[in-house]
Amino acid sequence: MESDNNIPVISVKELVKRFGSRLVLDGISIDIEKGKTTAIIGPSGCGKTVLMKHMIALERPTSGSVYFKDHRIDNLSQKQLAGIRANYGFLFQGGALFDSLTVFENIIFPIRQRRKIKNFKEIEELVKSKLALVGLDGFQTQYPANLSGGQKKRVALARAIALDPKVILYDEPTTGLDPLRSDIINELILKLQRELSVTSIVVTHDMNSAFKIADRILMLHEGKIIADGDADYIRSHPDSIVQQFIKGTVGEAELAALRQAGTRTRT
Ligand SMILES: Nc1ncnc2c1ncn2[C@@H]1O[C@H](COP(=O)(O)OP(=O)(O)OP(=O)(O)O)[C@@H](O)[C@H]1O
Ligand SMILES: [Mg+2]
Repeated sequence: MESDNNIPVISVKELVKRFGSRLVLDGISIDIEKGKTTAIIGPSGCGKTVLMKHMIALERPTSGSVYFKDHRIDNLSQKQLAGIRANYGFLFQGGALFDSLTVFENIIFPIRQRRKIKNFKEIEELVKSKLALVGLDGFQTQYPANLSGGQKKRVALARAIALDPKVILYDEPTTGLDPLRSDIINELILKLQRELSVTSIVVTHDMNSAFKIADRILMLHEGKIIADGDADYIRSHPDSIVQQFIKGTVGEAELAALRQAGTRTRT
């Protein structure tokens, strides 16, 4: 099995993605190493979600290719993909629970899709343990409408890990959570990595989270990866675009434009 450990879990090769005339990803190549947590950062609209969706073939490249281990996945049919996707957990941006299903039913949804549930007691135990992991055991019979944003996110996370995936894709897992709840999610991502050797890819705006959890941080800007390294490397990166992003400051040119624009429309 040693060779299996040496090949990247996910490989993105020369990925180009256009929507109409808009070029979103401009030749991205990334190898994701097994058991590591990789954060993808970058300004809103730069293509982080689109990039992550290619990693599970929810988007198809304009050109380039994507591999899960040694299987090329970007050209597979939905049917062929089903087997590959069983390796993944996916936490969508916004959570996306089914409103008409209880917390319990939401969590067993991926299990129901993959196999027939025979032993109900076993499933109850599984849901209980996943909810306990995210601090929500006891919420099984609640409906999403009665949960806060942070609670919904945690239920979605419990669902993403229901089938013990080897790879988890998280899209903005801490956005909209208070600092304490954010840190619970961070700890959970670290725990899954430490205890289950899960490979995680985390799209985030939250630099505290990225610095805490990531072995490697990639910054996406104008369709390209402009920085790639560990937290210390990114913190001291010489590029001013990287510094402005991680410090949350606005560049001089943008500030000047904002000041120039004023707040009222002259008539
Ligand atoms: N299905 C689609 N059709 C057309 N354009 C799309 C589609 N999906 C994404 N885009 C465009 O691609 C660009 C990148 O979108 P994406 O959702 O990846 O951004 P993001 O970096 O995840 O932003 P945010 O941080 O706000 O979530 C945006 O300009 C978006 O409008
Ligand atoms: Mg996004």
